[in-house]
Amino acid sequence: MERSLVVSDVDGTLLGDEGGTRRFGEFIALHRASLKLVYASGRFFDSLIKSIHEHQLPAPDAMICGVGSEIRDYPSGEIDGQWQQHVLQVFCADDVRKALRSFPGLVDQPQECQSPGKVSYFLHNAGATQLDALRDTLKFKGIHSDIVYSSGRDLDVMPQGVNKGSAAIHLAKRWEISHNNIVVCGDSGNDLPMFQLGVHGVIVANAQAELADYHRPGLFRATKPCADGVLEGLNYWLTEAVN
Ligand code: GLC
Ligand code: MG
Repeated sequence: MERSLVVSDVDGTLLGDEGGTRRFGEFIALHRASLKLVYASGRFFDSLIKSIHEHQLPAPDAMICGVGSEIRDYPSGEIDGQWQQHVLQVFCADDVRKALRSFPGLVDQPQECQSPGKVSYFLHNAGATQLDALRDTLKFKGIHSDIVYSSGRDLDVMPQGVNKGSAAIHLAKRWEISHNNIVVCGDSGNDLPMFQLGVHGVIVANAQAELADYHRPGLFRATKPCADGVLEGLNYWLTEAVN
């Protein structure tokens, strides 16, 4: 049997209900030999490590950090240099900051949320028109970027084409895992690019509207929230549909 690749968001997906997180750990322990496990988060490595220890999440093989702007092996923390080069090729965080300096409503996220490959703001309840205006401003200044909007609050400006989805595909290539054996799990807007890959998907019951409203065949909509929803989906994709 070919190995599967499970790529899951962390906050609101694997975390949020301690009982579910524990049950997820037990499931992974049973199936560990037949899968690669990756956590994909908007947060960076050090912050994720703390959560792994604090909530006893199972050890992953790698982590997609900063909304896809960084890939690190676990536990070594080694950065994927090839991906890093790709991320920084088309992007200069300072140019983004300059371009958006006077854009109304943007509030800088704390320093630990920023990196050379990700510029993050708070922007509360942004509508489509406001997000379009932001995109236009960046485009007008010649900046090759994508906007990721999550939880009606978090706005990430990313290098064009860099997101959790493209980072997941990079890892699948590295490990020679075919698209048919990838399962992605999430709850919010920064997870959407993973679902747009067309691979098997699990949307947990507590998902934000920005993800819950996304429709295409091949998505499993869990009836349970957080990690229990992930388990429902993994049971469906890994043990029923795939094998
Ligand atoms: C995490 C990150 C934050 C980002 C958000 C959405 O909360 O810390 O910087 O904006 O995810 O991607
Ligand atoms: Mg989340």
